[in-house]
Amino acid sequence: MNSIELVKYRPAWHFSPKENWMNDPNGLVYFEGEYHLFYQYHPYGTTWGPMHWGHAVSTDLIHWEELGIALHPDDNGTIFSGSAVIDWNNTTGFFPNKPGIVAIFTSHKDGINGGPAVQAQSLAYSHDQGRSWTKYDGNPVLRSEGKVDFRDPKVFWHPPTEQWIMALATGQTITFFISSDLKEWTLTSEFGDGIGIHDGVWECPDLFPLTIEGTNTTKWVLLVSVGDNPELESGSLTQYFIGSFDGITFKPDDESIRILDHGRDNYAGVSFSDIPKQDGRRIYLGWMSNWRYANQVPTSGWRGAMTVPRVLELKQVNDETLLVQRPVEEADSYFSQVHLTSSDLEIMDGTPKEFTWGLHALDLNVQLDMGSAHVLELIIKHADQQQSTITYSATDGTFTVDRRGSGQVAFSEMFAKPQSVKTIPGDSLELRLMLDTGSMELFMNGGEHALTSLLFPESTCEKITIQATGGSIKLRKLTLSAPENMSI
Ligand code: FRU
Repeated sequence: MNSIELVKYRPAWHFSPKENWMNDPNGLVYFEGEYHLFYQYHPYGTTWGPMHWGHAVSTDLIHWEELGIALHPDDNGTIFSGSAVIDWNNTTGFFPNKPGIVAIFTSHKDGINGGPAVQAQSLAYSHDQGRSWTKYDGNPVLRSEGKVDFRDPKVFWHPPTEQWIMALATGQTITFFISSDLKEWTLTSEFGDGIGIHDGVWECPDLFPLTIEGTNTTKWVLLVSVGDNPELESGSLTQYFIGSFDGITFKPDDESIRILDHGRDNYAGVSFSDIPKQDGRRIYLGWMSNWRYANQVPTSGWRGAMTVPRVLELKQVNDETLLVQRPVEEADSYFSQVHLTSSDLEIMDGTPKEFTWGLHALDLNVQLDMGSAHVLELIIKHADQQQSTITYSATDGTFTVDRRGSGQVAFSEMFAKPQSVKTIPGDSLELRLMLDTGSMELFMNGGEHALTSLLFPESTCEKITIQATGGSIKLRKLTLSAPENMSI
């Protein structure tokens, strides 16, 4: 995180809690110069347990300071996922003097004697930049009428209709509610029947507008995380829909299945609220794990990390509209020490090119033309006998990440299975690989596709080998950067 402490597998620069269990990012909000990251936290153990909201702040989205616990369980239950907003106009009455933060979260109570759990939405507010919190005495503000899964409220202000909107995960659908004061909510519509992936419970929605790059067209993007179904291969994942939203109803443009990240380890991600207009970015952060094995990953004393914060944009690629993601620019400033640049190299079949060093964290940018080669392999040697391989097949445009031999993998049968994404085959490729002590984030072709993977090797990276099969590749440019002040 801040300084590079080499606790085994602990990320050097991604956020992870100093101790104990973390899952979803919650209450992502920017206020008075700070980015707030709240998160699902179990302060008394390294596996999932009674949920609290942990809290960290950052001024640059990369260096995080972990603060005390923000929200503790109460009579309404434990504190499940939710969001936070700035109540600029005191719609709640909580802020007679100056604006502050309101957290909208799920209060969860386990069922009694095997009965169903009870989930409802509650509020808490802070007058001191999230350092202390008051729970609203009218909690819960929104109870379920019959649904057991009724959680993860994502709230935002909708200027055209001048009201608060809540997107809520309700089993196999997302239900929308409106409110003028965050306290009284009215159901407006429900989305999801017969569309999208329904392999597991729907969780952690987010809904926001984005303008398609290079156009004046604005679309609404709905993110929906889908929980693990042990009977299926996929594990937990995040899908998204593109469509329109009028303050009442979300209408998808089509029925396509769209996956946010083709790696196994990016779940429950949502975006920051209240990013200033002059910044204008839609900044997203996910939990870097998978419910299939999250409780078993081989860290000790702590468990769970977040992805690099990413900017989300919409881009028209051929006749498809894609949600593109790239690491925030603050990550470029962090990786300011350029270790190696190389340009105009030909890599021939049988003559691999090796780049050797030893770094705990690195940012590798590669631009190349496949030329006459059929297959590109990028092999990351972590340590003796430990490596991960990224393969690209020019024939069908598939990227595959194989982490079978990357280090500890035996804690889950699924962890070792390859991960892949099919792209439109083309000659020119652009790859960005961000490595940390416990993870690898791969962004392909300017973030048109992303693939996020946890790793548990003895060390991050000793060497990268690039090799071609069936012809030669032209490496146009390779840049390898490390964080300032990181020793080799
Ligand atoms: C998603 C999730 C949410 C829930 C939280 C509990 O990972 O299952 O639906 O609020 O985690 O920790």
